[in-house]
This record gives sequence, structure tokens and C-alpha cells, in this order.
Amino acid sequence: MNFIEPGVIEKQKVKIKNLLPEIGIERARQEIITGLMSEKRTISSKYFYDENGSELFEEITELPEYYPTRTEKNILQKIAPELMNRNSSFEIIELGSGDCSKISILIDAIQKSNLEHINYIPLDISKSAIEKSANTLLDKFPEIKINGYVADFIHQLQQIPHSGKPRLICFLGSTIGNFSKTESTKILHNLSKGLMAGDSLLVGFDLVKPEQVMQAAYNDSRGVTKKFNKNILNVINTIIDSDFDIANFNHHSFFNREKSRIEMHLVANKNCVINSPFFSAPVRFEKGDSIHTENSHKYYLSGINELIANSGLVIKNSFTDSNNWFALVEFTNDL
Ligand code: SAH
Ligand code: AVI
Repeated sequence: MNFIEPGVIEKQKVKIKNLLPEIGIERARQEIITGLMSEKRTISSKYFYDENGSELFEEITELPEYYPTRTEKNILQKIAPELMNRNSSFEIIELGSGDCSKISILIDAIQKSNLEHINYIPLDISKSAIEKSANTLLDKFPEIKINGYVADFIHQLQQIPHSGKPRLICFLGSTIGNFSKTESTKILHNLSKGLMAGDSLLVGFDLVKPEQVMQAAYNDSRGVTKKFNKNILNVINTIIDSDFDIANFNHHSFFNREKSRIEMHLVANKNCVINSPFFSAPVRFEKGDSIHTENSHKYYLSGINELIANSGLVIKNSFTDSNNWFALVEFTNDL
């Protein structure tokens, strides 16, 4: 996450452009301060992903309790041959691409002779994740071209130029579930506006399942999720030069049945006062006060229809695993 240097990294067939400076560090600081000063204290989950946060997330995906990654990967393995059976050259755009291991499953299913016509466009707020994964992907598929963007997909989707080639847009991992209904509807509407005939959009949705399975995935026995959650305070300290001590906050996660979401919070384990040169006054926490750091919505298939209502998107295909724990939905635009 680098809001300062606009640099473009260009080598061989990889080009990565940082668009975050166009948002600017002042806006990020303002958003963080507003969240910390509000009555229900919040930090946006996008601030999890500095280099350490991206690595911790990768570690989470390998935990026995964290079912979403392996469940979605199993579905991708099954549907990849049909999904990638396209003759022409095309672009694959991935929002919140992370370590690119899921796209690798799809690219693996493309005929070798077609790979040189593939342009892969990862978009992620984490600079380190894009840089690292672009290299890994190019080692595996030296034929493809990679044009990455370090950007915020809530505000900067429109800035990705359209080459006119057919597009497959992927939004995997149930990252959509980390956004409110208003935000996710807006993301889907924006994506729908950019879809032309022949394009499709593939979105991963984590489905409602037994509560103990969902709870364990966000409270793992090795404490990796705890580290991931607490690391957000290190990221905030860097951006607003504050003095949060992560030892003073405990990881807390639970399933909110009414809102059908896992919530993650950081709860103060003692009274503390946080300073930052950007605060108008110190921020005080009483023991037990919490900062809400993430929502992870769990969907019913019917809820997905509600999200796309009036967006112009239609469901072309829907794929789930045998337990119905995760859904991959392919949308097109009904133009
Ligand atoms: N798609 C991958 C990674 C999921 S983790 C997978 O399924 O495993 C969520 C990813 O989205 C992270 O890499 C994070 O850096 C990115 N992300 C979160 N909020 C974002 C935002 N507002 N804009 C762009 N990327 C974002
Ligand atoms: C990226 N996102 C979909 C993950 C999730 O499951 O909500 C982030 C995460 N938070 C805790 N563990 C994983």
C-alpha cells in the first residue's frame, strides 16, 4: 500500500502502475481519523494489506480452518476447462488479486498456443502482493503479458483502460463480502456498466453454513487471524503516525446472525490513550471498547439476486461445491 510514489515498474512483459497517489495519503488519513473518531469505531478492512498483512492473509488461506480458499479452488479446478475454452485473444482482469494462485488455476486451463494472446490485469491495493505474484505468474506462464494496477477498486475501477478485447473479470475469494451492501451493489453496478457483449464477470461468494465452521475460520487455533487483525494497527501507525500498541488490543470475531456476517473487532484490554499529529485531540479507549475492522458477509443464493437487482447483470452460470459452502457465479450484462 503506497499512497506516495506513483512509480511504474516495467520489465519484460510486466508493467505495474501505482494509482494510489491519485487518491492521496491525505484522503486515507482523513478516512482513518473519521473512522476512529466516530461513535462506533471502525477501520476499513482495506488497511489490512501492507506487505506483512498480505503475507499473513496468504498464511490464513493455508490454515485447516479456513475453508473458503480450498473450497473455491476446488470449484475453479472443475470449471476452468469450460470457462477458459475461448478461441480469441482476451483480457483477464482480477480485482483484489492477492497471490494470484486462483487465476493460475484458470490460466493453466488455457491452450498453450493461446497463452501469448492473454493479457492479465491484476488490480490490488497491496503493492507487494501485485509485485510478488506477477513474478510468480510470469515464471509459470512466460507467454502472458501482465499489466497490473496498485489501486482501490472502490474508487478507481474506471481508470483501467479498455483495449476492446473480450474481458473476463474475476472477483474471487468472497472479497465482495468484505463490503457493505451499498458498496458491493455499487461495485457490481460499476462492473456491469463496463461489460460489453462477450465479456463475463466471475464472482466468488462465501455461503451460509454451520456456524461453528464459519467461526473457526476466523478464530484459528494457530492465531494467524489474530495476528492479521492486530497488524492493521501497525498499518494505521504508519499512515497517521499514531502510537497504537498492539499488545493492548485483543482479537475478537463472531458470527452476527442477523446481518449474516462474521465480524472482526479489536477490543482494548486496558484503558489507553492514542496520539497522532493528525488528531485534533487524543483518542481514548476504555477497557472493553472495540474497533470494528472487518465484515465478512455470508450469502444465501437468493441474496445474490438481490445484490444484482437493477444492475443489468444476469446470472449465466452458478457453480457450487458438494456441501454448498461456496458459490462461483458467472454474470453477463443483459445488453
Ligand atoms: N483474491 C485473492 C485475495 C483475497 S484477499 C484470494 O481469493 O485469495 C483480498 C485482496 O483484496 C487483498 O489482496 C487486498 O489487498 C485486496 N483489497 C482489499 N480491499 C481492496 C480495495 N479497496 N481495492 C483493491 N484491492 C483491495
Ligand atoms: C479477503 N477476505 C474475503 C477474507 C475474508 O474471509 O473475509 C479476509 C479475512 N479476514 C479474516 N480472515 C480472512
